[in-house]
Order: sequence, then C-alpha cells, then structure tokens
Amino acid sequence: MVTIEWAALSAADLPAIAALARRCAAHDGGLPATTSESFLGRRYTAGPAVGAFSEGRLVACGAVRPVGAVSAATGLVDPDHRGRGLGSGLLDRLTDTADATGTAGSVRVEVESVTPQAHELFLARGYRQTFAEDVFRRDLTAPLPAAPLPPEVTVEEWSPDTEEDFYQAYSASFADRPGFPGWSREEWIDWLVDDEFQPGCSLVARDGETAVGFVTCVEEFLVQVGAVPAWRRRGLARALAVAALGRMRAAGATQVFLDVNVNNPASAALFRGLGFELIARRARYE
Ligand SMILES: CC(C)(COP(=O)(O)OP(=O)(O)OC[C@H]1O[C@@H](n2cnc3c(N)ncnc32)[C@H](O)[C@@H]1OP(=O)(O)O)[C@@H](O)C(=O)NCCC(=O)NCCS
Repeated sequence: MVTIEWAALSAADLPAIAALARRCAAHDGGLPATTSESFLGRRYTAGPAVGAFSEGRLVACGAVRPVGAVSAATGLVDPDHRGRGLGSGLLDRLTDTADATGTAGSVRVEVESVTPQAHELFLARGYRQTFAEDVFRRDLTAPLPAAPLPPEVTVEEWSPDTEEDFYQAYSASFADRPGFPGWSREEWIDWLVDDEFQPGCSLVARDGETAVGFVTCVEEFLVQVGAVPAWRRRGLARALAVAALGRMRAAGATQVFLDVNVNNPASAALFRGLGFELIARRARYE
C-alpha cells in the first residue's frame, strides 16, 4: 500500500514540478516549452498550489490562479501513479480551492496534453470542454517539399515598414475564423511579438499593393499562417509555410511545433501535408 501525503507547494518546489511535467510530457506528448520552470512558475506560483508525495517524491500537483474573473486550474499526475484516484482527488481539491478563492466567475481547467481518461474525468465531474487544439511537430532535418509561390506574389520579411501589411493580411485571413477577436494592430502585435519572435522567418505576401497572405514564427514555433479568402486553394499558405520553415532551418532549428484548433480541418490538412505529426491535444474545460 503506497502512502500519499498532500501538502501545499511553493516556488521552492518548481524543480520537482518541472521534473513531473517532463515525465508527463514524455508519456503523453505535448510542447517541450510547457515543462520549463518559467512556464510552470507562471501557473504554480500565482495562486494556491498543492502536491501529492509518495515516499518524498512528487507524484501529482495542481494549482489555481486568477485569470480575469475566472479561476484557472491546472494539474499533473505521474504516469506511474495513474489509475489510483490521484487525478480525481486532485481535481476535487482544485475545484474546491477555485470555488473558495474565486469570484462569482467560473472555474476553468487547462490541460497541456489531455488523455482520454482525463477527458472522461472532467465530464464526470460536470465540466464541459470549451476549447481544444492539436499540437503538431515536424522534424526540420527531413527535406521540405517544393512549394513555389504563385508567380504574381512577392514576399517580404517582418519589419517596421511591413507591420501594417502583416496586420492587413492577418485581419482579412482570420476574420472568418470562429472567435476572431477583432484586435487592433497594436493588440495583435502585442500578443505576437516577444523575445522569441522571429522577424526574419515571418513573411507577408503581396499581390501588387494588396497584402494577400502571411506567416509568423517564434523560436521553434509557427504561430499563424493565413491566406485572404480570394486567394485560397492556390497554394499560397503552403508556399508561405514552407518558406518560413526553410528560414527556421537555416537559422538552426531542427524541429518546429504549432497548434491547430480542432475546428480548423483546412489548417490540419495543410500541415499534415507538410509532414507535421500530431503529438498532443491541449484543452480547456469549464
Ligand atoms: C487554412 C488556410 C491558411 C489555407 O490557406 P490556402 O492558401 O488556401 O492553402 P493552400 O492553397 O496552400 O492549401 C494547401 C493544402 O491545405 C489543405 N487545405 C487548404 N484549404 C483547405 C480546405 N478548405 N479544406 C480542406 N483542406 C484544405 C489542402 O490539403 C491543401 O492542399 P491541396 O489544395 O493540394 O488539396 C486558409 O484557409 C486561411 O487563411 N484560413 C483562415 C486562417 C487560418 O485558419 N489559419 C490557419 C491556422 S494558424
């Protein structure tokens, strides 16, 4: 009989949380970046966090943090300790904590790699899935397919001079996506550009003066690709994606990741056709 002891966690536990996150990612798949101490620190030190220990080893952990009016919960269970009630015990603790600390808003559970068992557990506890996206990975050491740009199109990298064209291409391509936020140029750039942004791997396509497509990248990650409606199914997004991947490889990347919302089969088909493989499903439940 294994004894489990639950205890509150602090920032000093981050190395053990990161080690547990790596064991989970090795088993379940998922983005490597979600196992870094900086990523986990944002989730595990912004509110109450709890851990389950077996013989001194952290085998499950979870945390609740405020995100606007919502209490956002996240958790991990060691692959070697599943099927023993740790996940349901953790979810009930996190739900109680969120109910006690939250405002009148709802409780949201965020999962980086959801297993079928976890999905069933959330539904059984009255949660419903409100968001899901698939995480794909491509080996950049494998050859890229030839994907020429349509001859009438010219491309340019991201720079202060091309930001407006990028924004026009983004707005026109994404306006028909469900949940399009309608951001201003400043809001979109603020969301997109950080220390890891790669302006030299981000391209905007123009037909004459009109921006007709774009692709944006951060380190080892393709963030967005879009073609305006009048330019779809002519190989534009494929050509932009392949050009960006070639630039990432030239800059030293050996692999690249991206997310595709489960409601976007066109995008999934585009990237599967370029050799991307599914590695995980990220999801939110409320
Ligand atoms: C998804 C999107 C980028 C595709 O752009 P595009 O220039 O039309 O794509 P391409 O012509 O290069 O198509 C390449 C492949 O993608 C797949 N594809 C593209 N559109 C598709 C659709 N509507 N349905 C099914 N597959 C589709 C196909 O496999 C296609 O190859 P094929 O034409 O040889 O069959 C475009 O529809 C778009 O901008 N959508 C809104 C923004 C978005 O969802 N971006 C992706 C998430 S970041």
